[in-house]
Amino acid sequence: MPARGKLITFEGLDGSGKSTQLDKLARSLRAHGLSVTVTREPGGTTTGERIREVLLHSATAGLSPLTEMALMFASRAQHIHEVILPALAEGRIVLCDRYTDSTEAYQGGGRKLGTKPVLQLHEILCGNLQPDLTILLDNEVAFSVERARRRNRKHKGGRSERDENRFEQENRAFFGRVRHAYLAIAAREPNRVHVVNARGTPAETHAVIMELVRKKLKI
Ligand SMILES: Nc1ncnc2c1ncn2[C@@H]1O[C@H](COP(=O)(O)OP(=O)(O)O)[C@@H](O)[C@H]1O
Ligand SMILES: [Mg+2]
Repeated sequence: MPARGKLITFEGLDGSGKSTQLDKLARSLRAHGLSVTVTREPGGTTTGERIREVLLHSATAGLSPLTEMALMFASRAQHIHEVILPALAEGRIVLCDRYTDSTEAYQGGGRKLGTKPVLQLHEILCGNLQPDLTILLDNEVAFSVERARRRNRKHKGGRSERDENRFEQENRAFFGRVRHAYLAIAAREPNRVHVVNARGTPAETHAVIMELVRKKLKI
């Protein structure tokens, strides 16, 4: 049986550059001949993508913070079962756009549910599956929000006709709490979570991430 693969997760505010960097990393690792699975949360499975639509669509109104957290974990439990664990068992490198740290940051911090219920649910529903490496793309709130808005305007009617803007309607204070919660996770788990300054060009940020991954995967 091949060795267990590696789980690498990308975290950060919307607009911090996660999808851009995940894509670049996938290309680089594949160029090295490695087997890479690219996936995302919420989503990553048929069931999960349906849950994603409920969670992110701006027409979804009146979702309680607890319901929001429960749906995030429902998507994740299915994702682990259907995609992540099978890929790891095959020895693949799994690159996941958002994971449990997002729930701790957004529902725990942003929605003020706190860290404890998130970690407890992670243990119960996710078998406490931890990433081998987490890249936290950090930037000023205003900077990320602006990038995300520009991207959404650009894609209107284009590639992504989907409305995924429910969280975008939150205020500065909400995103400030999300960022703060992210940095607290990084301080608590410095061996797993690496904070990467997301202000540079995509190429500069990619070089930093590649170095971290090279060390972690010993390639
Ligand atoms: N380093 C960067 N500098 C400038 N713009 C960037 C950078 N990284 C990403 N972008 C652009 O900012 C927007 C948000 O990036 P994206 O990768 O979609 O972020 P996320 O997935 O974290 O929401 C996109 O339009 C992307 O092309
Ligand atoms: Mg993205």
